[in-house]
Amino acid sequence: MNIKHLLTEKTQAAFVALGLPADTNAAVTVSTKPEFGDYQINGAMAAAKLLKTNPRQLAGQLVQQLDLGDMADKADIAGPGFINVTLNKSWLAAQLQQASSDNRLGVSPNAAPQTVVVDYSAPNLAKEMHVGHLRSTIIGDAVVRTLEFWGDKVIRQNHMGDWGTQFGMLIAHLEDKLAAGIDLEQVALADLEDFYREAKKRFDDEAGFADKSRDYVVKLQSGDAHCQKLWQLFIDTSIKHSDEVYQKLNVTLTHADIKPESAYNAMLHGIIADLKAQSLAVESEGALVVFLQELADKEGNPSPFIVQKTGGGFLYATTDLAACQHRSHTLQADRVIIFTDARQGLHFKQVELVARKAGYLRSETAYDHCPFGTMMGEDGKPFKTRTGGTVKLAELLEEAVVRAKAVVQEKATDLTEAEIAEVARKVGIGAVKFADLSKNRTSDYIFSWDAMLSFEGATAPYLQYAYTRVRSILRRAEVDDGYSATLQLVEEQEKQLAVKLLRFEETLQLVIKDAQPNLLCNYLYELASLYMTFYEACPILKDGVEPQVRDSRLMLSIFTSRLLQQGLDLLGIEVMERM
Ligand code: ARG
Repeated sequence: MNIKHLLTEKTQAAFVALGLPADTNAAVTVSTKPEFGDYQINGAMAAAKLLKTNPRQLAGQLVQQLDLGDMADKADIAGPGFINVTLNKSWLAAQLQQASSDNRLGVSPNAAPQTVVVDYSAPNLAKEMHVGHLRSTIIGDAVVRTLEFWGDKVIRQNHMGDWGTQFGMLIAHLEDKLAAGIDLEQVALADLEDFYREAKKRFDDEAGFADKSRDYVVKLQSGDAHCQKLWQLFIDTSIKHSDEVYQKLNVTLTHADIKPESAYNAMLHGIIADLKAQSLAVESEGALVVFLQELADKEGNPSPFIVQKTGGGFLYATTDLAACQHRSHTLQADRVIIFTDARQGLHFKQVELVARKAGYLRSETAYDHCPFGTMMGEDGKPFKTRTGGTVKLAELLEEAVVRAKAVVQEKATDLTEAEIAEVARKVGIGAVKFADLSKNRTSDYIFSWDAMLSFEGATAPYLQYAYTRVRSILRRAEVDDGYSATLQLVEEQEKQLAVKLLRFEETLQLVIKDAQPNLLCNYLYELASLYMTFYEACPILKDGVEPQVRDSRLMLSIFTSRLLQQGLDLLGIEVMERM
């Protein structure tokens, strides 16, 4: 069920009747104010330009031609040629009735499923996961869940950084720790940041250590068994750290989704040979470089994309080219989506350009680098610990649960200690996720505990609380999700709620188009708010409410609770029956 789609089709049919091309943009939008009806058709203005006629007159002809059948009460022309459509309540009730009996909540089947590779989370295993990876992980996971619900085939890829030059230094340091009999998990790698710092200090200060580190990188990359073994130990321990975060975060990534940088190692020589053979890569100061005129600076100097370092080492860039080949050709992806912070924008532009020229990305494969902004502290500077260190994600999430517990305890009246702990976990993690997901992906945002744990405004606690309220009404009425009764829409608040409930598919399509979970967050927030308005204006269980009216309102409530639960689930946020 997609009202926007339906109106677009009908408008385009009318355009054709008026002699315009069938793909003329109907420009259907949701009305911003109740006095503009429920939906607006704004395409008459641009079409009039095309025909060089008066837009308001064309809007009039369009309305004449528009066959809305029983879906609308009226279509009014406003201003220079807007058409405001007021939907019919019985028609809406019938649509919602149908959607109620559907386990996809009225979202139509995906007629053309795509294969989508989603590259997200991707921490660097040399260090602890930091807040940048929080964003990549949860935004990626929300998009993945939405694509899967819509019916696309999703291939998750956790492009973990496990292959850089730092690993030489790390395994050389690890070797000494192990020789000294130090327990790996308890002491040596309990804190990756500390371990990294120690190794780096030795690299900078200790005679011979840097040479040994460099030697170990070369050995590692050429398959030396001893180095490989040390490296594997390090990697396995580091992956355990990220597992802990994934589990706390309720994300869908598993070990099977790990496709780290090292996985492309065997392809890299071939990529370089091929780039040379195609004369795309040329030697420059000992390195191999692809010069990109398309990305030239103001002076006209082409943008250099280094694919092999002086001395033969491969780079992040080389691996990404191999990944393009694998995803587009081997996995036959229709679309590749990559979530990293915005600072990698140029890198992915270069990757795409080179991969297209070299044929590693088929023209059928869309390549979408989806950047995100920086998470800031309340001081407006990038989020750090008080001493300026990296905030460990695992600790941040623990703090979220502790803080949520205080908030939940204040509100909860009849929950056991164990229930409070469970609710606090869902609220705390949900709050961190919703605060992040609800922001426009590309902007920086300020991380504020107070704002995200508030029960007012667009927050996880607000939505989770709204859900528990609907559930409590349904419990009191003694109905469950399978309950069925005739829906009727009489009051304006009922209608507003129904229109919103029928906009789930539209919302999901927008989320998928530009990988923007914030649109789903807004939608769910508006839905919960409309339900609250409806509930205040339209009594359900009060004495004197007619049985058919009560039943219909229960149907609206059931649908709302199902949709809130499903929608929050797509964001990876859990709900609870009571709080
Ligand atoms: N490991 C990188 C980072 O921490 C992100 C990798 C993203 N994916 C890719 N194909 N380059 O920023």
